[in-house]
Amino acid sequence: MSDISALERRHVLRSWAVQNKNSYEEIVGGEGCWFWNKAGKKYLDFSSQLVNTNIGHQHPKVIAAIKEQADKLCFIAPFYASEPRARLAELIARHTPGDLNKVLFTLGGAESNDNAIKIARQYTGRFKVMARYRSYHGATYGAITLTGDPRRPPAEPGIPGVVRVFEPYCYRCTFGKAYPGCGLECAEHVREVMLYEDPKSIAAFFVEPVTGTNGVFVPPPEYLPRIREICNEFGVLLIADEVMTGWGRTGQWFGVDNWKVVPDMMTMAKGLTQGYIPLGAVVVSDKIGQYFDDKMLWCGLTYSGHPLACATGVATVQVYSEEKLIDNAANLGEVLKQRLQQIKEQHPAVGDVRSIGLFAAIELVKDRKTKEALAPWNGPDPGVMGQISGCLAGKGVYCYPRWNYLFIAPPLSINAEELELGLNAVDECLELADRAL
Ligand SMILES: Cc1ncc(COP(=O)(O)O)c(C=O)c1O
Repeated sequence: MSDISALERRHVLRSWAVQNKNSYEEIVGGEGCWFWNKAGKKYLDFSSQLVNTNIGHQHPKVIAAIKEQADKLCFIAPFYASEPRARLAELIARHTPGDLNKVLFTLGGAESNDNAIKIARQYTGRFKVMARYRSYHGATYGAITLTGDPRRPPAEPGIPGVVRVFEPYCYRCTFGKAYPGCGLECAEHVREVMLYEDPKSIAAFFVEPVTGTNGVFVPPPEYLPRIREICNEFGVLLIADEVMTGWGRTGQWFGVDNWKVVPDMMTMAKGLTQGYIPLGAVVVSDKIGQYFDDKMLWCGLTYSGHPLACATGVATVQVYSEEKLIDNAANLGEVLKQRLQQIKEQHPAVGDVRSIGLFAAIELVKDRKTKEALAPWNGPDPGVMGQISGCLAGKGVYCYPRWNYLFIAPPLSINAEELELGLNAVDECLELADRAL
């Protein structure tokens, strides 16, 4: 263990971790799709860290923008106008769909969702918010209450007024149906729950356009348009959590663009600055923005629109455009999709593969017929998933495992050779899963 690793072990509390079951490998550098440890071992970043380093590590244009802004002005309070904040808000408005034109800046994804809850409640005068069981919306109190997954119960009772429904998880359809002959029951059930809950009490429905950390559930094409209709019917705001799907991950600027749905609000973080400096945002429609023209917006943060973070965001968004990274995600996404099908055919432990753009999950099962998960959904698995990540690390590939899923979400700047290299390693290491059957 290096000195730095030992200091971390002694003094840093790691998030989502049993402290003494952690790797303390020291990482000292990165470039593009690669990063390396102190001993010089290089890793292909096949999950963009936590699905955030969308343009890769240490992009020179973004580094230059951060340095330039640091020389000019590191901080100014949110009640003054400042160039990076104004320019980034305009760029966000330009790329988000419809009339999502006004931005509240936050520090990350969870805070964006917490503030979106507040804005929705203030704007509608209603207090309930709806979300889905297998979604993840962040770890602050409001966001974790929206979250349905196993990270929520330790934070309960959470905030009041949250109602949860099931998502479109076609591989394990809650309703026992199979698309397309299912009548889209996963969407109709949302409508039914809204009726039972009294639609006039529901401010908003939070939706990850593609459910991310819980397994990359790409919805049937009619799902989001139907959810939009249902929300319209009852005056419920549709809030798209684009923290993971936003900024090109799915091969479109935003996840909702795949189905041409315009939400009333959008939350974002990760790919906005891809984590070089933390930043999040809540983007609201003109109607919601105008509501606060003559009413107090009861939300606030000391660092709302931090100049260094916003300068990072401006440079990052320019890189997406200049380097055509969204097109690259869409094009290589097709290669990824085809290769995942081959992997599924070759490995009996692979129950399902799902992908859209450069956003994919491989779902591992003990038995294809019963679909019993290879590792539990609601708990850490020290077994075969750990062995698979160890095997990948040994081959110089970092690929994020969670429960019985393996996530493939490389930087959108990846090239065909790097993609092939990572997929070959995944293919080889999945033999460990087959052997565990
Ligand atoms: C869809 C989604 N929303 C919100 C969050 C929380 O973002 P943060 O960790 O920046 O608070 C995440 C993080 O993974 C996410 O995937």
